[in-house]
Parts: sequence; structure tokens; C-alpha cells
Amino acid sequence: MKSVFISGISGSIGEQTLEVLNNEYFKNNFHLIGGSVFSSWGKLKKIIDKYDLKAVAVVDDSISIPETYNNCKIFKGLKSVENSIEYCKPDITLVATSGFSGIKHTIKAIEVSKRVCLANKESVVCGGNFIFNYAKQYNCQIVPIDSEHSAIFQLLMGEKSTPTKIILTASGGSLRDLPIEELENVSVQRVLNHPVWSMGKRITIDSASMVNKGLELFEAFYLFNVRDVEVAINRTSRIHSMVQFSDGVIKMHYGIANMKIPIAFSLSYPERKYTYGSPDLFSDKIEFYKVDYERYPALQLAYSILGNPVLQNAFNAADEVAVEYFLKDSIKFTDIYKVLEYTVNQMATLSSRNKIFDFKEIDDILKIDKNSREIAKKYIMEVIK
Ligand SMILES: NC(=O)c1ccc[n+]([C@@H]2O[C@H](COP(=O)([O-])OP(=O)(O)OC[C@H]3O[C@@H](n4cnc5c(N)ncnc54)[C@H](OP(=O)(O)O)[C@@H]3O)[C@@H](O)[C@H]2O)c1
Repeated sequence: MKSVFISGISGSIGEQTLEVLNNEYFKNNFHLIGGSVFSSWGKLKKIIDKYDLKAVAVVDDSISIPETYNNCKIFKGLKSVENSIEYCKPDITLVATSGFSGIKHTIKAIEVSKRVCLANKESVVCGGNFIFNYAKQYNCQIVPIDSEHSAIFQLLMGEKSTPTKIILTASGGSLRDLPIEELENVSVQRVLNHPVWSMGKRITIDSASMVNKGLELFEAFYLFNVRDVEVAINRTSRIHSMVQFSDGVIKMHYGIANMKIPIAFSLSYPERKYTYGSPDLFSDKIEFYKVDYERYPALQLAYSILGNPVLQNAFNAADEVAVEYFLKDSIKFTDIYKVLEYTVNQMATLSSRNKIFDFKEIDDILKIDKNSREIAKKYIMEVIK
């Protein structure tokens, strides 16, 4: 039995992981040992009731919570996730925390676990090679969960040749058919209505703006060490990504759009142990479309900073801030891109002035995130609002 800790256990990926763990094979081979939330104590309590957990973490310390519950130790506060991972020492940590704060959980997970199943793309986006070098140092395996990266990871298993190109697929998000001139005044609810995937709020907004595809572009670059990464729209999300080789051959990963499949694969890798329905080969049309950068300017911005971890970090921080304001209805959907562009440009000037182009320490990563958030917030308060 392998022990598993899930950070972000109350979220979309966290809950789907619990469903996977209920599947026959996984029930008999994996044992949930702990998990963490930001503030969803109600959900966490139910999980503790159901599973025999060693420890959990609740980051928000403003909630009144006991020290233990049903023999499960409860860590609280800012470092609670790292402390609970350290205490549980799981064989596998599945990092499904949303946002930049997940990077600290990934780092702790690398230190104590043999495998990190990584849904939190921000860990790679904001840290660049730092995370992979760190994992090498601790002899820890990183297996991606993002459906596109899981697909590429699977396509390259046993492959001796390096691909010349990676092709990431995209659904186009919830606003893909909305006339461009209507994007400015689109409501939050409309953006949250994704045509294919059911996900957390930020990633759903980011799919509509293709900021998410930008983050995935960065993630693919560091995970697979391939610079030529193209994006193709596949509206049905049947093709989860592709790899192309020097002879022009393209290998595609075809399957049903359901995150439980890559989650399960990350746990059972290198074997496939999850059972799920198959796609209808004869009724699903497979079509690809080019990206319209007028509709998705954030993806173009992402291409312009690919391989620069400092600016990628700023891109992510600005987006986290902008999406938070958009969700509160305080800025418009199209303002998200303006915040990103401004923050990245400001950080480009600052980093070249201070000659910071890469990260040696986690503190450097945290510092760039903090500065970028300040730039983004100031811009929203002084220019946009
Ligand atoms: N959802 C998908 O289909 C999907 C697909 C590919 C990749 N991903 C990636 O997976 C990650 C999780 O996405 P999601 O959609 O599952 O997000 P989500 O539904 O918003 O869930 C986020 C989880 O993280 C916790 N959390 C949030 N902020 C935290 C903090 N500061 N400290 C500790 N825990 C915190 C939340 O706890 P509370 O419930 O208490 O707020 C919740 O458990 C993201 O990086 C996303 O890009 C998601």
C-alpha cells in the first residue's frame, strides 16, 4: 500500500482524486494519509470522517478548529501544509493546491515523498528549472497531471527520439464563439461556464483568456525541454496534445476529456490501472484550428517571455491578482490582459536593471511574486479602477 497526501483536497482536482481512490484497484493499493485546504473545514471534516487520516492542514487560522479530530492531527496557519506533509511523510504527494502558494507545498513534497503528482502548474511556471533541479537532488519523481502534459508524458514513454515540436491542444474556453467586441462586457458567470471541462474558478477564467495555455506553454518547456511549442484549438478536447518528430510524424493522445484519467495515471504510473469508458471513434470529429491572437493576446505575451522564469512568474502573479478582481466584478474581462502586459513590462525593466534572470533560492521566487503582485495591484487601483 502506498500512502498518499493530497494538498488542495477540497478543490476540483482534489475531489476527483478522492473519486479515483475509491476505484477498486486504487482502494486496494493506495492509502490516503492526509490532505490540506485553505479554509474548507466543512469538507475536510467529512473526509476525516470517511478515511483514517494521520494529519491534515487548514491554512486559514481565523476559523475555530480543534487540535485533533477523530484521532487526526490538525495543523493550522501559514506553514500548516508543509508541516502536515512533513509529519505524514507520504510515499506520494499529489499537489492540487491552486495558485502560486502551491510552490511551497511542491518543495516540501519533493523533500519527503518519492513521487510528486503535480497538478499545480504554477510550481513549474514560477520556479522554472528550480523545481526539477530540486527534485533531482532529492531523487523524487515528478509526474504531471495537467491533461496536456500527462498526454505528452505518456506519448514520450519508451520513445528514444526527442520531439522537434510539441503541439498543445486547447478547447478555446467559454468565450470562444463570442464576438470579440463583446468580450469587454462579458459577465463573470458567462466566463465561468466552460463548454468541456469542469474546473476551479481561476483555471476556468484562464481558459477563456488562454492565460492558462500560456502557463501550460511554460510548463511544457521545462517539463520536456522542447522550445518549439505550438498551440492548436481542438474544440472537443478529444486530442489532449501531440508530439512531432524530425520525420514529420505526429503522435496524438486521444481520449475522453476527464481529469480523473490523468490523475489516476499519475498515481499508477508506469502502469495504467484505471477503468473508464472509451471515446466514440466514429462520431467524434477531430478538427484543429489556429489561434486568433486578437481574441487571445495573453498567449502571444506568453510566447514572448517563454524561458524567462522571472517574467513567467510576473505573468502568473499579475493574472492571479487580475482574476481575483475580475471575480469580484471590480475590473472587466479585457482588463486582465492589460494588467498582465503592464506587470510583465515593469518587471522586465526591473529585472534587467537588477540583473535577475533566474532563481537560485526559493526566496528569490517568492520575492518576484510579491513584487509583481504589488505592481499589478497598484496598476489596477491607479489606472484601471
Ligand atoms: N481543475 C482542473 O481540471 C485542472 C486541470 C489541470 C490543472 N489544474 C491545476 O490544478 C490546480 C488546482 O486547480 P483546481 O481547479 O482543483 O482549483 P480549485 O478547485 O480552486 O481548488 C483549489 C484547492 O486549493 C486550496 N487552496 C487554495 N488556496 C490555497 C492556499 N493559499 N493555501 C493552501 N491551499 C489553498 C483550496 O482550498 P479551499 O477549498 O479551502 O479554498 C482547494 O482545496 C491549479 O494549479 C490548476 O491550474 C486543474
